[in-house]
Amino acid sequence: MSAQLIDGKLISAQIKDELKAKTEELFASGKRVPTLAVILVGSDPASQVYVRNKKKACEYIGYKSLSYELDEKTTQEELLELIDKLNKDPEVDGILVQMPVPKHIDENAVIEAISPDKDVDGFHPVNVGKLCTGEKGFVSCTPAGIIQLLKRSNIDITGKECVIVGRSNIVGKPMMMLMLRENATVTVTHSKTKDIAEVCKRADILIVAIGKAKFVTKDFVKDGAVVIDVGINRNAETGKLCGDVDFEEVSQIASYITPVPGGVGPMTIAMLMYNCFEAYEMHC
Ligand code: GUN
Repeated sequence: MSAQLIDGKLISAQIKDELKAKTEELFASGKRVPTLAVILVGSDPASQVYVRNKKKACEYIGYKSLSYELDEKTTQEELLELIDKLNKDPEVDGILVQMPVPKHIDENAVIEAISPDKDVDGFHPVNVGKLCTGEKGFVSCTPAGIIQLLKRSNIDITGKECVIVGRSNIVGKPMMMLMLRENATVTVTHSKTKDIAEVCKRADILIVAIGKAKFVTKDFVKDGAVVIDVGINRNAETGKLCGDVDFEEVSQIASYITPVPGGVGPMTIAMLMYNCFEAYEMHC
């Protein structure tokens, strides 16, 4: 392997420690600390793990977390009532509804019910719009985390060719806006892109969020490119986690690469915690 590893575990720990120090200062001066309300509807095992990790991060940093674990059969009306109550509570800075919600609940209605100034996931159309126009607002945590990985690894973005693989609302689209804000030249590819490998080969910075194990092979990557792998896939045979990038091959030619696990993954929670502090400062 010739590529340098971008250590998401280390960088996310630095961000959490910075927030912990700021929260300790608040506590020491007798001030209220940031508060995050976490809502889980149903008992999806993966969602339970994510929610537990978010609550653990709050505990580590010193935030207060409020936990709402609701029955699978909770109605949309009941969920929206809870969100309304939390929107009005001056002690609550951030509200997070773990996705996916059960099928009988409209995900967009839930996202739009959260007050934009408590939308620490950055999913509300108001925050998505602000990202497009360059106003200050909450940014979706995974793409915001990728910007931190690049900046804290001293990787220049200005003027670089950036190719994004995948156009989801959570990663691909906000990533495009953030890289544009950082002055990259951005191309977004997706399942209908012709000659996707050729397009990816133009990239100085290649960001892959398509959800297909080892989709990006060495034929997609220019020598010396920076490769960011957002994928988390479980190998059916070995049970091991792997990304959307064939790490063994691509790490031979990339200049920097994120591992899976331990790359982008840990950054999502760190940036959620960052957004909570921003929300707190807005409310004080
Ligand atoms: N489900 C998968 N990723 C996320 C996330 O970033 N936020 C929320 N609320 N739900 C998710």
